[in-house]
Amino acid sequence: MMLKRPRRNRKSEAIRQMVQETYLSASNLIFPLFIIDGQNQKTEVSSMPGIFRYSIDNLLREVESCMELGLNAFDLFPNMEDSLKDKYATVSYDDNCLYNRAIREVKARFPEACVVTDVAMDPYSSDGHDGIVENGEILNDETLDVLGKMALAHARAGADIIAPSDMMDGRVGYIREILDNNGFKNVSIMSYTAKYASAFYGPFRDALNSAPKAGDKKSYQMNPANQREALIEAALDEDEGADFLMVKPALSYLDVIKLLKDNSELPIAAYNVSGEYAMLKAAIQNGWLDERRSIMEVLMSLRRAGATAILSYHAKEVLANKWL
Ligand code: PBG
Repeated sequence: MMLKRPRRNRKSEAIRQMVQETYLSASNLIFPLFIIDGQNQKTEVSSMPGIFRYSIDNLLREVESCMELGLNAFDLFPNMEDSLKDKYATVSYDDNCLYNRAIREVKARFPEACVVTDVAMDPYSSDGHDGIVENGEILNDETLDVLGKMALAHARAGADIIAPSDMMDGRVGYIREILDNNGFKNVSIMSYTAKYASAFYGPFRDALNSAPKAGDKKSYQMNPANQREALIEAALDEDEGADFLMVKPALSYLDVIKLLKDNSELPIAAYNVSGEYAMLKAAIQNGWLDERRSIMEVLMSLRRAGATAILSYHAKEVLANKWL
């Protein structure tokens, strides 16, 4: 006698749907977008088929076409010309730099869009690091000053959510205080809480031309071997006033997403990064994986692990193809 037969709950589509535990909807998705200078520019990132760098005019068109599909949240990243970069990422807090103009124009044209902005020095730094480099060392407290100025410039431009991706200690509290002191109490912070020193950021660094000139990011990004350390970061970010806790990358860190979900009341975000996108697309282009099923399985796994906000380069294609 077999009393328990789990297959009974899989016997028809109606029953399978009735017992489905997890759903993905457009409101869970945040679409990362790359920006370049110039006019009428749209250049494909070679390691990310289907993903482009847009000049601001085309960025507005892209945002509009996403919003028509019900995709309303965007995370912006700039590809800055080398000549504008310096040791202190000075251009990052110029209200008229490419990035701050882009934020302002998107929010002016689409006030209801949710614009997430990235705070870290690497796209603007001549050293290609997320903080100030001195004698090969990444300075923590000195970097906070730059991050604070950058976050404030994003808030002035109209950012809805500021996402510090730099992994300096104390930056969430530092940015929170600067925002509050300047009348931006309602600008949110989505902290890159557990950001790992990962090989999966390669295509992103190609997209932005932002790779470190020397050394690696292991003195500030987390060791991929560690799980418990994410709890230390999460506790700090909560205390410092973060509104979201993010785990990045996503796929190799599903356990960390679940861990933070189980240990925090804050919403959890997961960043399905450039290398994860590249991997899937390469296999799909070779005919080795089914496009729709592999992409949806990846995104669903992030929801199942506990992420409510999913940053993914797949966001638009999922909606454009009506895969939800
Ligand atoms: C940099 C930053 C990175 C990503 C987002 N912000 C790269 C890095 O830390 O080197 C990676 C995103 C992706 O790979 O899609 N502050």
